[in-house]
Amino acid sequence: MRPLLVILLPTALALPSFPFSASAQRPLQDTSEISCPLAPKIAPDSDGFLSSLHFIQDEGIRAQQVERLSRAVQVDTSVGDAVTDPDDEAFAPFVDFQDLLRDLFPLVHKTAQLDHINTHALLYTLPGTLPHLQPILFLAHQDVVPIDDPTDWTYPPFSGHYDGTYIWGRGASDCKNTLIGLLSAIEDLLNQGFKPSRTVIFSFGFDEESHGFLGAGHLAPELEKRYGKDSIALILDEGGNGVQVLPDDEDVVYALPAVGEKGALDLVLELAVPGGHSSIPPAHTGIGIMADIIHTLERKDLFVPELNKNHPTRKTLECQVVHSPEHIESWLGHALSTNDYRSLAEKLGQSRGDNFRVTLQTTQATDIIRGGVKSNALPEKISAVINYRVALHQTPDTVISRAVDLITPIVQGYNLSFSHPYSSGEGEGTINHLTLRPLSSPLVPAPLSPTDVSADQIWTRFSGVARAVFESVPALKGKKVVVSGDVMTGNTDTRFYWNLSRNIYRWNPSRERFLNNIHTVDEKQSIDTHLEGMMMYYDLIRAFDQWDETNEFAHEL
Ligand SMILES: *[C@@H]1O[C@H](CO)[C@@H](O)[C@H](O)[C@H]1NC(C)=O
Ligand SMILES: *[C@@H]1O[C@H](CO)[C@@H](O)[C@H](O)[C@H]1NC(C)=O
Ligand SMILES: [Zn+2]
Repeated sequence: MRPLLVILLPTALALPSFPFSASAQRPLQDTSEISCPLAPKIAPDSDGFLSSLHFIQDEGIRAQQVERLSRAVQVDTSVGDAVTDPDDEAFAPFVDFQDLLRDLFPLVHKTAQLDHINTHALLYTLPGTLPHLQPILFLAHQDVVPIDDPTDWTYPPFSGHYDGTYIWGRGASDCKNTLIGLLSAIEDLLNQGFKPSRTVIFSFGFDEESHGFLGAGHLAPELEKRYGKDSIALILDEGGNGVQVLPDDEDVVYALPAVGEKGALDLVLELAVPGGHSSIPPAHTGIGIMADIIHTLERKDLFVPELNKNHPTRKTLECQVVHSPEHIESWLGHALSTNDYRSLAEKLGQSRGDNFRVTLQTTQATDIIRGGVKSNALPEKISAVINYRVALHQTPDTVISRAVDLITPIVQGYNLSFSHPYSSGEGEGTINHLTLRPLSSPLVPAPLSPTDVSADQIWTRFSGVARAVFESVPALKGKKVVVSGDVMTGNTDTRFYWNLSRNIYRWNPSRERFLNNIHTVDEKQSIDTHLEGMMMYYDLIRAFDQWDETNEFAHEL
């Protein structure tokens, strides 16, 4: 995935700024509207297959997973953003990677239908015997982000070195851990004679880290062609906020699949001004004008955080009020009853820090600026790219019209013409002109996936499995697992899959989600948490296979 910021709940809650004690000073909380219903635990155990715990109990399986993940990391499937032809030489290592998968997972490759979509995207289908059950779909990606300087790494980035606890290397955690975990779970089931009643699909893109147009951009339409709109019961992709163990909380852990994603937008500003010798300059060169514009756009109060009733984070906070009242701000329960969503968000932002605040507000970052060629020549063409992550309560249009409103008086002051998405385009291509345009199609915030335990059967089943799996994990023995939907500040391949299902969840089922150095040096993956993730995939496939949601009583098959 492309995470921009990481929400580290434990750190936020561990801040020494809460000198709370269990004393009687705590204000009474009006918690009448606050609730956090938990789905009943679902441990599929009547189908005759081995318990998912066998993954962490069987030393042979551990050794096998070390081998599988290590070998997957050893194939360098990094690609830059510039490659747009799937048959380009740059994608040649994907053939090796796919050969390796055939080697590692003989039963999957014997049993499943494998289609190569747009050359390197992989679509595995295990057809179910009961066609009226909607398929369950798992996503991952084969590509990894490139290495900056390999000498910065403790172990060479494509060594797949195993130190007894971790597999080290690029892709170990993002996302080969997921891809290998999924195929391993189904290979294990097939080895036990599993014949799905519900169709199981794996859809693996090969350019997720470069926006996914070549992989997911072709996989999702292919699936829509085959199965139709809203045809998939559940989609699970990487992402989310893992399984968080609060440092002070001995009793509860939070499983936080993402049920929403912020939107995304890149704005390009292009300014053309007259050149000339820099010994006779105007008061402001083009660079000065661009600086003025960016400075204005970056005014601090531009985007305010908001935590309204529908925001998934609100539900997670309610869960904390219900299940961890001693480990959160004493005012939180009361504060959540307000209708002043801005003040509430501001207060939480102050208390929990910027990593939390950015989930509630639109962010902007000027990431590229170009202009000028020589120390004695005035710059003629100046350009900038500003990256926006759009909060759930806003749209890319809000961002664009805001930028236009702020920039208009500035360009008037410099006597420039200005074209933008809402203008007639007059003056484009002339001197003394500013153009503002989106770099590519803006992405609106993702539709929220259901998280209502009483109303949505799919979420209830999914979160019931998550509870059962993680309450059975030895490392979390005795803790209560609370499953709650959260949001991501980055985007995953799921952006292409919205038409296929309402129930899209992005979740690496991992206790170490933010400790794995994804996208940076020394990426790694612990085998323990890899095996726990496999437990989740394995039990999820079983739990959905033994169940018919179309039946009036949604009975176990
Ligand atoms: C502003 O620009 C227009 C068109 O380029 C020009 O005709 C006009 O004289 C300029 N005004 C000033 C005050 O420089
Ligand atoms: C979803 O369906 C709409 C309407 O048919 C279509 O325009 C759009 O391209 C589809 N989205 C994706 C990501 O395929
Ligand atoms: Zn990823």
